[in-house]
Amino acid sequence: MVVRIEPSILSADFTAFAADIARIPSADLVHCDVMDGHFVPNLTFGLPMVQRLADTSALPLDVHLMIEDPDRWARGYAEAGAQVVTFHAEAAASPIATARAIRAAGARAGVAVKPATDLDGLLPLLDEFDQVLVMTVEPGFGGQAFLPSSLERIARVRRAIGDRDVWLQVDGGLGPETIADAAAAGADTFVAGSAVFGQDDPDAAVQRLRALAGG
Ligand code: DX5
Ligand code: ZN
Repeated sequence: MVVRIEPSILSADFTAFAADIARIPSADLVHCDVMDGHFVPNLTFGLPMVQRLADTSALPLDVHLMIEDPDRWARGYAEAGAQVVTFHAEAAASPIATARAIRAAGARAGVAVKPATDLDGLLPLLDEFDQVLVMTVEPGFGGQAFLPSSLERIARVRRAIGDRDVWLQVDGGLGPETIADAAAAGADTFVAGSAVFGQDDPDAAVQRLRALAGG
């Protein structure tokens, strides 16, 4: 199975993203957490930072938008050059139109769900998306514990994806103790912040996580 490991720069040095990205050459993509202080109670960075990272990073970017009104903003992140742009289902008024705008700008379109969000409305729409992000913690902060209740949700999304080319991403609390369970449940794209940038050798951490995920 294809396994993608995405270190989250939420756990990197905010004054030295370029240097920290250079420390993870084994990663598949760089996960960029955009938080607006409204959809989640934390604030990170926005389009100018992502634009600059897209222009300079040797690795492709996966942008996780934790913002209100993604219908308005998501397309800009795709136009900036991100390979994947994921917005939250809870925040989007027009998720299908927003996903189509992301695709039209040349990126993969992702939709994210918080741990308590019902999956019923989303699963019939999978043809509109290239990635489903099943949050495995409440979004907003790094370093939280993986929610075991996520495993059944991951498995349900995996069954619904079938043979579509839709990445099944998990984000939050992924590390050596949890990544194998998430992979067994059906995830193929793994975000890890503290389990990568909290380590002395972040690239070795990426390689270890990949092996534990079966990649
Ligand atoms: C949390 C963010 C995550 C965060 C994960 O809301 O979406 O991407 O960086 O951090 P860890 O891997 O430390 O749980
Ligand atoms: Zn994230």
